[in-house]
Amino acid sequence: MAMVIDGKRISEQIKEEVRQEVARLKQSGRQVSLAVIQVGDDPASTVYVGNKKKACEYVGIRSLSYELPGDASEEELLRLVEELNGRSDVDGILVQLPLPGQISEERVLKAISPEKDVDGFHALNMGALCVGKPGFVPCTPLGILELLKRSGIEVSGKECVVVGRSNIVGKPVAMLLLREDATVTICHSRTRDLATVTKRADILIVAVGKPKMITADYVKEGAVVIDVGIHRVPGSRKLFGDVDFESVEPVCSAITPVPGGVGPMTIAMLMSNCVESAKRR
Ligand code: GUN
Repeated sequence: MAMVIDGKRISEQIKEEVRQEVARLKQSGRQVSLAVIQVGDDPASTVYVGNKKKACEYVGIRSLSYELPGDASEEELLRLVEELNGRSDVDGILVQLPLPGQISEERVLKAISPEKDVDGFHALNMGALCVGKPGFVPCTPLGILELLKRSGIEVSGKECVVVGRSNIVGKPVAMLLLREDATVTICHSRTRDLATVTKRADILIVAVGKPKMITADYVKEGAVVIDVGIHRVPGSRKLFGDVDFESVEPVCSAITPVPGGVGPMTIAMLMSNCVESAKRR
């Protein structure tokens, strides 16, 4: 029987630690605050943004909400980001992605002050991660490392395979694992004979965005499997990951469920990054 890694419990533990830290800072006259910007009313984004604000409230972080219409111009958004960059009472700035087509995500992410980039998406923070310098690390990759650490899973010297090469998950998680002395392989849609590569993994991280793609045929006996995917299949209320849980669970030693695995960790690490920012500034 594989250990099912309880991301909900671990994320609650982290949020509790953050709550105490926020209270300590408040006692010394320092209120931690996060500005959250949403452009348009994409339903999924509205749910994510709502969850982020709820988490802020829970840990005692002040959240400032900015809702721009779906037809807002890039200039308008850039002006808002500039204003928030200059405000000494704002520790973190988060622009919810995706942005509407008329706005360049690249230009907007670049405009956020790297010192307030609690999402860790700014190229300077990405670069800092690559060269092993301090900076903000994206929340989902940070959450994955925290899940492994708090479940007693050693990373150093392990063969880690990451499936997916996105800027938000695949690339940064590979860099983090490398920083922790793992041997890392990144696979993607053009990888030849994917199963041969993934079967080498002691730790397999899956962030491909295809429901139930990874079955037991892709997993080495006793591997640790981390599932970053989250999918709602039409006609069903159930959520699915990129990993076929029923197929993989019997062959692995530990696995994250969907929901309740990696998902809750992202917001917990966002809260942790906000505190980090307040302490640094
Ligand atoms: N959209 C999907 N995931 C994320 C995230 O982690 N941060 C932001 N800003 N937008 C997202």
